Amino acid sequence: MSYYKHHIFFCLNQRDGGQACCAPHAAHAAFDHCKQQVKAAGLAGPGGVRVNKAGCLDRCAGAPVAVVYPEGTWYTFVDTTDIDEIVESHLKNGQPVQRLVLPAEVGR
Ligand code: FES
Repeated sequence: MSYYKHHIFFCLNQRDGGQACCAPHAAHAAFDHCKQQVKAAGLAGPGGVRVNKAGCLDRCAGAPVAVVYPEGTWYTFVDTTDIDEIVESHLKNGQPVQRLVLPAEVGR
């Protein structure tokens, strides 16, 4: 069994020169909200869920992005309502949110 049941990483990176990146798409707010919701749901900690910041995950064209391990499920999202759905469906109940899954072809 892995140390965390689910480990979610949010890209918070800002890129120069107007290139596609996550920071301008409220990635920090999404990260903070996810952390709060996971804690409020009693999911945080060993055997549960860990929410971490990440640098560029190299899928910037889909910004903002987050990835959940060990499944390797990649998400793109718009607002905190989407984050709530990821927390409730995936991180709490183990059901990925298909409507928010990042298409496989999206890269940098
Ligand atoms: S800036 Fe977020 S994936 Fe590259």
